[in-house]
Amino acid sequence: MSDSNLSAAAQEAATDTILNIDLNVQAQKGPDLRKDHPKSHGLVWGEFKVEDKIPESLKVGIFAQPKTYSLWARFSSASEAEKRGKLRSDLDPDIRALAIKLLQVEGEKVLDVEKETQDFLLINHPIFIVRDAQGFANLTKASVGQANEEELRSLALTFEVIKAITSKQVANPLLVQYWSTTPYQLGSQVIKFSIKPHSSDTPGSTPTSETYLREAMVKYLSEDGLDATFDFLVQLYVDDEKTPIEDPMQEWQEQDSPFIKLATVKIPAQKFDFEERKRLDEGLSFTPWHTLPEHEPLGSVNLARKKVYQEIAKARRGNIQHRLTEPQAYSSVLDNPQ
Ligand code: HEM
Repeated sequence: MSDSNLSAAAQEAATDTILNIDLNVQAQKGPDLRKDHPKSHGLVWGEFKVEDKIPESLKVGIFAQPKTYSLWARFSSASEAEKRGKLRSDLDPDIRALAIKLLQVEGEKVLDVEKETQDFLLINHPIFIVRDAQGFANLTKASVGQANEEELRSLALTFEVIKAITSKQVANPLLVQYWSTTPYQLGSQVIKFSIKPHSSDTPGSTPTSETYLREAMVKYLSEDGLDATFDFLVQLYVDDEKTPIEDPMQEWQEQDSPFIKLATVKIPAQKFDFEERKRLDEGLSFTPWHTLPEHEPLGSVNLARKKVYQEIAKARRGNIQHRLTEPQAYSSVLDNPQ
């Protein structure tokens, strides 16, 4: 299996570039919001039921035995806030995403925060928008007008993929498929995972509301009283050609590595659109590094996420805490978004 083409020093430098810009943007756009994925369409509860019959070699970590875990699931759009005090409209093209957090998961975790959780983060497309941490650093620089011409040129394919993802029509976030795009360990094997709904989305009339994605979830789970059910699927690494670890821009084709079902994710009909839930949502932190070592994230992109997610969550939670314990003057909270 190939190693990252980036040297350890280049990986670290790229990670710090991303983090420094992110911390600045976060401070500008809303210090207690996520810099990426600030807009939530709903934080809902559910369960993750490990299949009774899974291949012996895949019975590792949370899949070691048939068991049902409680979970939180957060549906989001990826783009940063439009400006301070203003999240983007759902009518704008965006990457849609899903983060799930299994609870009361036993066993030592990779990080020493959140001792009982196992998170999975996914977007609504099978491939990612950059190959490695350097690509993400270039993209982050471009987003604040700091990329030079060569860096901008290197992002041509990235802009194409972003266009392909953001032009997908999503009518209801509960009814589309999500992919990890980056690889993970499953014990001694390597996998990518995906969460696929049992019912399919039916984009109909053109939406008109800036928050139509949350409204679709409220209608489905709270008004129509329907459950949302998904398969949790994995694809196994085959070889570097067909299923590379260091290039999340290359799709692992299903004909090379078919999906295997390991669990069912069920989000029962429920009410979730209220203030207390929104506060819980804002305070939570999801990262692929909240994990058992058996499911450790792999590759340059995932490695960059280890530091970035922890630091960015620490900064925004610190801000919430500080504001609560030490109320700030109007002039310093900048609560006029203009
Ligand atoms: C180098 C690559 C990446 C960087 C630097 C990055 C950065 C971030 C940051 C800063 C956040 C906000 C975290 C917080 O405030 O708690 C975030 C959230 C998120 N990211 Fe990434 N990301 C990367 C790659 C990915 C990939 C590959 C995926 C999945 C395919 C992904 C899916 C998500 C999701 C679903 C969330 C929202 C989590 C939530 O609901 O709290 N990201 N990302």
